Amino acid sequence: MRLGSIVVFVALCSLTAYYIYEPIPEEIEERWKLMLTNSFFRSLSHLADFSERLGLKDYMGVMYLITLLENIVPVSDEHVKVTIEKFDGVEVVLYQPKHSGNSVNLRRAVIYLHGGGWCLGSSRMSPYDLLARKIVTELDAVVLSVEYRLAPAHHFPVPYEDVYRVVKHFLQKGVLAQFSVDPERIAVSGDSAGGNLAAAVSQQLQKEPGREVHLKAQALIYPVLQALDLNTPSYQQNQHMPILPRTLMVRFWSEYFTSDKALFRAMMANAHNNPESSGLLKFVNWSAFLPETYHRKYNYSAPAVVQGGGGEAGAGDGPSQAFADPRASPLLVPDSALRSLPKAYVLTCEYDVLRDDGLMYVTRLRAAGVEVFHEHYDTGYHGVLMFTVWPTDFLIGRRVTYNYIKWLKENL
Ligand SMILES: *[C@@H]1O[C@H](CO)[C@@H](O)[C@H](O)[C@H]1NC(C)=O
Ligand SMILES: *[C@@H]1O[C@H](CO)[C@@H](O)[C@H](O)[C@H]1NC(C)=O
Repeated sequence: MRLGSIVVFVALCSLTAYYIYEPIPEEIEERWKLMLTNSFFRSLSHLADFSERLGLKDYMGVMYLITLLENIVPVSDEHVKVTIEKFDGVEVVLYQPKHSGNSVNLRRAVIYLHGGGWCLGSSRMSPYDLLARKIVTELDAVVLSVEYRLAPAHHFPVPYEDVYRVVKHFLQKGVLAQFSVDPERIAVSGDSAGGNLAAAVSQQLQKEPGREVHLKAQALIYPVLQALDLNTPSYQQNQHMPILPRTLMVRFWSEYFTSDKALFRAMMANAHNNPESSGLLKFVNWSAFLPETYHRKYNYSAPAVVQGGGGEAGAGDGPSQAFADPRASPLLVPDSALRSLPKAYVLTCEYDVLRDDGLMYVTRLRAAGVEVFHEHYDTGYHGVLMFTVWPTDFLIGRRVTYNYIKWLKENL
């Protein structure tokens, strides 16, 4: 009954919050529905905050309710065979086409990494399950949805390493043969924190000597790409936007590394950089990497550099250093590390704090000579790919899904 009462409480809070004015831009479609959806998210966030303050349950523990509410048991259907596997000890949900007309043709494969700020989400959430089935049927491909472990129970680099282990395991010729996958046609993809993991894995794989199988493509959907500057124009413009306000993104970032709130406070003030990380600020200089239209209204000032920045948490090699690790912040590498990356699809949304992370990566990848297809949604906001299932189904969710799958079909 406890879950029941939480749901009722959240519903009541949502109703109340609905009457609080929320500035959602006029051009966003289905605004009333988004407001209602967002008021649920905000109420749950308030409840989570309250619960953590009272010492009942930590913030992310309460927020995980969002994941639980959407979790389903993935089962096979007429067209798709679904199995739960362990790849090098990490759980994956494997989707395979059922009727492959001829066994001669090898299939394409997509390794999919779900979003949720490294703290929430699951490959079992119905929107991810639906997306995986669509990719399988439209591309006659195999989809591997990775159930990596989450923070705060498992801080960086555990979520990243889980993903990396799965990818390395899968990219072995013997394993690919087992699932009739063409070694030349494999992509890694993910949304939000999943986009972060996909970008990081693509970069790190290149460092493996003697690698036989290479990724053909990386598809990054509103990815998180850097933790050094949390005041880019998109962070400023969209700090109170629905679904992912700046506070929540900063919370995800800090929880990825540590449960010590000092890092959260330092990141909120954008004063978490230290003399070691400051040398990497040039890689996220939005004054240089954003198209002018996006930074015109803002004046660049580099983030403060504080001796012992990153909060009091962990001097030396502790969590205060990890945010500058390219496995957490893939934008923080020199051009030479970008040059031989697989071709990329990058999706960005105008009303998203992470917009500029994506835009900067597009600029930097192109400058390094990587083929990039950039899709920008003028009326998009963070999380649209997830909004495909009733009652939170939005027209834009369908468009985004259609275009993303279309790119995969044509480029993988
Ligand atoms: C950022 O780029 C601008 C030029 O676009 C330059 O003046 C400034 O010094 C750069 N700052 C850093 C920290 O790289
Ligand atoms: C940016 O700087 C200019 C010139 O100093 C100033 O007029 C403008 O108000 C500043 N804009 C912002 C958003 O701070």
